[in-house]
Amino acid sequence: MQSKRGRLDRYLCTHLQTHRKAVRELMLLGNVSVDGLIVKDMDMQVDEFSHIQLGDQILQANTPVYWMLHKPIGVVSATKDAQHKTVIDLLDCEARYELHIAGRLDLNSSGLLLLTNDSRWSNALMSPTHKVDKVYRVTLANPLTEEYIAVFAAGMYFGFEDITTQPAKLVILANNVAEVTLSEGKYHQIKRMFGRFRNPVVGLHRLSIGDIVLDNTLAPSESRALTASEVACIR
Ligand code: URA
Repeated sequence: MQSKRGRLDRYLCTHLQTHRKAVRELMLLGNVSVDGLIVKDMDMQVDEFSHIQLGDQILQANTPVYWMLHKPIGVVSATKDAQHKTVIDLLDCEARYELHIAGRLDLNSSGLLLLTNDSRWSNALMSPTHKVDKVYRVTLANPLTEEYIAVFAAGMYFGFEDITTQPAKLVILANNVAEVTLSEGKYHQIKRMFGRFRNPVVGLHRLSIGDIVLDNTLAPSESRALTASEVACIR
């Protein structure tokens, strides 16, 4: 999702359907304010959360919204789908149709899903340079061995994308249950990594993303707004 940052004069031209000269005049007359302050600088940068007014008329007043959902199995991580219920349909949030997903889960995966209308926040969360850890509990069809730990830590070559996965941490919790920590999110990454061992994933549940942990009071399909400190741990 692209960040919606841009020049104020461009925003006003588009929004008021007028040309730069008219916008310049409005600004020089002191008619335009951003976040409560009169602005005369044509080059000023604004984003989707800048409060923009023309005189008393509010042109833009969006507030950033951040939610966590306990995604159940069988619900698609998309904003629209012709066949399945989507995660957006489950959200208990008025602004839900304006939100996008920060890090999808497969149809048959469950656990922590984050949604927001703040593209800068979700980009920081998902950007490969930030290397935010995602922790999954994985249930396998067959028993695990110590060999998995070294192979996950070394990284795995995926010929289709011509990439080697970042070192991943695997902890064996039980005969056929592991906790896996990834710092990236390639397509079906966990299923494909266990696929190398011909060991099908039968359960995949995301426990955390960075310092944001799935709230254990949320039953599957329940959601809540993130707290200010949860939002602040991704910047
Ligand atoms: N890896 C997968 O294979 N599926 C998910 O949903 C998440 C990570």
